[in-house]
Amino acid sequence: MAINLQQFLAKQLSDGVIDQQLCDLLNAVADLSKEINDKVTHGALAGVLGFAGTDNVQGEHQKKLDVITNEIFVEGVEWTGALAGMASEEMDHCLPTPAAYKRGKYLIMFDPLDGSSNIDINAPIGTIFSITKAPEGKIADESFLTPGRKQIAAGYVMYSPQTILTLTVGNGVFMFTLNLGTGEYILTKENIRIPVQTQEFAINMSNMRHWEAPVQKYVQELLAGDTGPLGKNFNMRWVAAMVAEVHRVLCRGGIFMYPRDNRDPSKPGKLRLMYEANPMSFLIEQAGGKATNGYQNILDLQPEELHQRVAVFLGSAEEVERVTSYHE
Ligand code: AHG
Ligand code: MN
Ligand code: MN
Repeated sequence: MAINLQQFLAKQLSDGVIDQQLCDLLNAVADLSKEINDKVTHGALAGVLGFAGTDNVQGEHQKKLDVITNEIFVEGVEWTGALAGMASEEMDHCLPTPAAYKRGKYLIMFDPLDGSSNIDINAPIGTIFSITKAPEGKIADESFLTPGRKQIAAGYVMYSPQTILTLTVGNGVFMFTLNLGTGEYILTKENIRIPVQTQEFAINMSNMRHWEAPVQKYVQELLAGDTGPLGKNFNMRWVAAMVAEVHRVLCRGGIFMYPRDNRDPSKPGKLRLMYEANPMSFLIEQAGGKATNGYQNILDLQPEELHQRVAVFLGSAEEVERVTSYHE
C-alpha cells in the first residue's frame, strides 16, 4: 500500500522522531507547496510570469513568482502554532510569529522560489526550507544564526515534469511525488544513498576565469578526463536551479559546485547559507554525501548574517573530498 506524507509523518510522530508541532509544520509546508505548484504550472494562464518591479535585500530583481510564492509560504505556515518566527530570501528581516497566532517552538527559513531565471523558460524550479529550534525570548535576525548541524528538519519541493517533495527529519532522506489527481504526496523513494564515486559534475563554467586557483585546478582535471590525473571521463550538467542539481545528485550522484569567485569580493559565493546551503547540505549528509565550502563542512559553519553567502561543493564524497583537499 502506498504511504502518503501525512501517514509517514504520523509514523515519525508515534516513533518519537518528530513532535506534534513539527508534524503540523511539515504538513503545512506540503500543503502550501501544492498551491505554489498550482501557480507555477499555470504560468502565463495565472498571470504569474515576468518581473515584479522590486528588488530584494540581495539587490536581485524580484520576479512576480518570487513575491507570490513568498506570500504563499508565509500565509501557509504562520498560523500553525509551530513557529516562533520565519525568515526568507525575499524578506529583508525575519518575521516573528504575528501576535494573532500562537507562538511555537520552531523557526523556519526558506527560499520560496529557487531558480528564478528558469521561471520564464518553463525549466525546473523549487522551494527550499530549513527548520531549527527557536531560542527563548524575542525573535530577531540573530535568533536564526545557528549552525546547520542543529537543523531539525530540511527539504525542498521540485516543480518539474513531476512535483517532488524531498525531506529529512534526521533519519535519512525520503522523496514524495505529488499525485495531481488526489492532491496527495506519495512516498516514492527512501533510503537514498549518494554513490561515493561519480563521473558527473555541475558548475557554471562561464565563471571559470573568476574562480580561485584550487577550483581552476580541479575543473581542469575534470575536463582532462581519462587523459588527466583522475583517469576517467566526466559528464557535465547545469540546470541553474540548486533544487534540480541537488535532486540529480541525490538520485544518481555527482558533484555540484558554486565556488566563490573574484567578481565581487564582498560576496563569498552566490548561494545563501541559511536557506540554500544548510538545508541542502543536511539532505546530502543524510544520504551519505559530503558538503563543504572548500575548507569546512557547511553544517559546521557558524552563521554571521541571515542572508550570508557561501561557497558550495556538495555531492559524492570522493569528489567533494578531492576538491576540498585542493583548498588546504
Ligand atoms: P534564486 O533563484 O533563489 O536566487 O537561486 C538561484 C541560484 C541557484 O539555485 C542556482 O544554482 C544558481 O543561482 C544559478 O546561478 P547562475 O545564474 O550563475 O547559473
Ligand atoms: Mn535559490
Ligand atoms: Mn529564490
